[in-house]
Amino acid sequence: MNVLGIETSCDECSAAVVRDGREILSNVIATQIELHKPYEGVVPELASRLHTEWIAQVVQSAIAKAGLTNDDIDAVAVTNRPGLLGSLLVGLNFAKGFAATLNVPFITIDHIRAHLYASQIEHPLEYPYLGVLVSGGHTVICRVEGYDQIEVLGTTIDDAIGEAFDKVAKHYGLGYPGGVVIDRLSKNGNPNAFLFPGAGLNKGDHPYDISYSGLKTAVINQLDKFWDGESEKSPENISASFQRTAVGMLLKRVRLALDDTKLVRISAGGGVAANSLLRSELKNMEKGGFEVSFPSLKLCTDNGAMIAGLAYRYLSDGVRSGFDETASARVSA
Ligand code: KG4
Ligand code: ZN
Repeated sequence: MNVLGIETSCDECSAAVVRDGREILSNVIATQIELHKPYEGVVPELASRLHTEWIAQVVQSAIAKAGLTNDDIDAVAVTNRPGLLGSLLVGLNFAKGFAATLNVPFITIDHIRAHLYASQIEHPLEYPYLGVLVSGGHTVICRVEGYDQIEVLGTTIDDAIGEAFDKVAKHYGLGYPGGVVIDRLSKNGNPNAFLFPGAGLNKGDHPYDISYSGLKTAVINQLDKFWDGESEKSPENISASFQRTAVGMLLKRVRLALDDTKLVRISAGGGVAANSLLRSELKNMEKGGFEVSFPSLKLCTDNGAMIAGLAYRYLSDGVRSGFDETASARVSA
């Protein structure tokens, strides 16, 4: 079954064709990053306009790169939640029209579940496992019992981890989006140059919840101290020290959740799962007997292949969406 997956929830206009849920025949990602760069963040109105201009070409290019024609597409899947509403609506309505024209099944997909599923396309893990979703909009630690069975154990109570990377980078004028820049600069920095406060574990009912706003503020305030003449102001040292703390805070909760749940498998997903420190730290956990899986870099950030991959699972179970389905900016319950 050739599933066309469409993803337009934020600033990537993407379409992919995945065969039988595993074989990625194409995964076209047209990024709008350069066009949002002058504003140092995604401008929602601009994002939806660009999706409108690009979507038809991106979809046709995904089908052509797969070596197929429209008639070879067996189902159409699209992200319809959560994300920027205007952007979601472009992909959703295009997908509805495309599915109706081809007269093939149509299904809407939750972006967060798709990020959590992405690693399964390439390196399937047996269920259950601990899911770690780390992106620009979300930070979630969860117990994953099946592709559609997810129990949230902990989330951020303020900024998402990727948002903290982006805001720190923006404040220091390092570039946009910040995650990948901080990752790169950190390679030549001293992670112990600054001791930023990493929020300790919560006591009480929500031990796996996490807060990034205190760390973000501490790193940003450090810049003001530079004006007072403090040394070691290299962006490399700031980046490495921030990254070490941000990743360390996450891993502390991941380890606690593994201890408490007795899960022995871990899967990460989302844009920040591309972070080299997080990847190497997770990989290291294999030495402790854990089975670890994360997506290849192209499947970490937003992409159509993860939508098509997860859609295949639903479609195989007979699930379909109606054309009355709408988009939602919010996380589903
Ligand atoms: O999953 P994604 O493409 O979009 C959302 O659903 O949010 O994630 C984008 C986020 C951005 O915050 C970006 O800075 C971050 O992922 N990111 C990284 C890296 N690559 C992307 N953060 C840290 N290290 C990276 N290498
Ligand atoms: Zn995403």
